[in-house]
Amino acid sequence: MAASLSIVRTVSELREAVARARAAGAGVGFAPTMGALHEGHLSLIRAAKARCGFAVASLFVNPRQFAPHEDFDRYPRTEAADAALLASAGCDLLFAPEREAMYPPGFSTSVHVAEVSAPLEGEMRPHFFGGVATVVTKLLLQAQADAAFFGEKDYQQLLVVKRLARDLDIPTEIIGCPTLREQDGLALSSRNAYLSADERRIAGRLNLVLHEAIKAAHAGEPIARAEADAAHRLLGAGFSSVDYVAIRHAETLEPITDLAAPARILAAAWLGKTRLIDNMAV
Ligand code: PAF
Repeated sequence: MAASLSIVRTVSELREAVARARAAGAGVGFAPTMGALHEGHLSLIRAAKARCGFAVASLFVNPRQFAPHEDFDRYPRTEAADAALLASAGCDLLFAPEREAMYPPGFSTSVHVAEVSAPLEGEMRPHFFGGVATVVTKLLLQAQADAAFFGEKDYQQLLVVKRLARDLDIPTEIIGCPTLREQDGLALSSRNAYLSADERRIAGRLNLVLHEAIKAAHAGEPIARAEADAAHRLLGAGFSSVDYVAIRHAETLEPITDLAAPARILAAAWLGKTRLIDNMAV
């Protein structure tokens, strides 16, 4: 257990606590979250603590990254349990603002990251990266950390955040951390809690199918065929629909026709009402 986890709800309290930690000689590491924490989030906190000394988490279910038909209302909200988990992982400070503190009346600025936001998740969820980029820019400027830690599970989000921090000269290093998985390969995600027992059994196939697609691409199968085969296999395994399976350039996410440059396979697929995403280096 950490000595203590302080919880603050305003930007000025957050900045005062961060300034105190700095004055005491610590570096500051930051992990933004939407709560419903699992081991994947805690690995970000542990990385922040190990690298920087003082670990800050935020908990804010950001309405701007949900479309009206998405799961904002049913997104799990478990602050007390989250705070206990954060304390056990060594987190020093939790910033859990109210909606009005993040988006006061008259809020009218948004951050748009072109190019890397456009394909894949950007096509399927057109509102999503605008909401993420806006809230992450705010959070980075609010926390003023030395480094901020994001999971590779949301690989496109990680690229978007790296780009906005670079483009806007935000003096926080953006660090990607590896995806944590269940035994059957299912990437840890707060949304896994939505899965029924039957859906949960099928869910692990997503990662397996991506592994098979990587193997096929390395064995010389054309990229487009490997992608299409994988989508077909997901449907055969019981997924209700597939938004995409794509092998892309690992930094730009542009389509590729061979594996000469570093590549990433990314996928999004539905099990009933639950949308799962996953990705891996090719
Ligand atoms: O990955 C998430 O949980 C969210 O998109 C983030 C980065 C906390 C922004 O709301």
